[in-house]
Amino acid sequence: MRILTTILLAGAMAVTGAVSAFAEDVKIGFIVKQPEEPWFQDEWKFADQAGKEKGFTVVKIGAEDGEKVQSAIDNLGAQGAQGFIICTPDVKLGPGIVAKAAANNLKVMTVDDRLVDASGAPLEDVPHMGISATKIGEAVGQAIVDEMKKRGWDLKDVGAIRVSYDQLPTAVDRVEGALSVLKANGFPEANIFNAPQAKTDTEAALNAATVVLNKNANIKKWIAVGLNDEAVLGAVRAAESVGVTADNFIGIGIGGADSAINEFKKPEATGFFGTVIISPKRHGYETAMNMYEWIANGKEPEKLTLTAGQLALRDNYQVVRKDLGIE
Ligand code: GLA
Repeated sequence: MRILTTILLAGAMAVTGAVSAFAEDVKIGFIVKQPEEPWFQDEWKFADQAGKEKGFTVVKIGAEDGEKVQSAIDNLGAQGAQGFIICTPDVKLGPGIVAKAAANNLKVMTVDDRLVDASGAPLEDVPHMGISATKIGEAVGQAIVDEMKKRGWDLKDVGAIRVSYDQLPTAVDRVEGALSVLKANGFPEANIFNAPQAKTDTEAALNAATVVLNKNANIKKWIAVGLNDEAVLGAVRAAESVGVTADNFIGIGIGGADSAINEFKKPEATGFFGTVIISPKRHGYETAMNMYEWIANGKEPEKLTLTAGQLALRDNYQVVRKDLGIE
């Protein structure tokens, strides 16, 4: 019996030793479209945390366009990585990314933005983790409806800025989710103005929203929706620049990273009324772990994982963050 235990123990130790030696050889790329955005910084941070825990290396690469994506993947192949996670700058690069990954013998998983084929259909074979976009959009819409009611606004006097990036399916699902709730609550369709942004950042949103505000200077009360906090913040900044005050503006974003929190920390309330907090930990830590399990243990990730969000307003965001375990 004693001998058997010893043998089993020795065996177990040999296996553990083999696995941890292998973990050191695992190299996983984490490519993001907008490295300067707090959301992506957080994803990287949590991916690194997973790497530290398991002993694998995370290679973080920013790739703002298709060319950079191609060279990033080649680069990972040349460095001896075994796989990568990507939030692509353009979902239509889908088939090209899959081909490049295969040519470099790399496993690929997507995060945030799901790859599509030439006809716009999602590449369902590529494991993906994204947010439950429509639901989260609906939460934004409901919170805006509630606040308009609270302020006693007459809907016919209110304009809605739809900060849009319609080439990205998750962006469409998010804003349409919000607008569907607004419309179901009687918001006039004619008062919804599209503000297409050239890029998914605050500056591009500010430019797009400014056009809408200038064209509709007769409207004095505004709400804004967009795919992320940066989009809504752009609309808030645009409104401020034409003199719309916080009591006449309700913008609710999606994200809950530093862009939103810094806004809430300002001593005076701004038009950035709230955000739906989503989880960079799940998107960074969990995707990195999934990729590691795939490489080290042959365990393929789920094909589709959709994560939830939690509404937080300027006056309760600290409590919500605490409940979510974010310090
Ligand atoms: C997209 C947006 C990001 C973030 C993620 C979340 O990639 O551009 O700002 O909202 O989705 O999945």
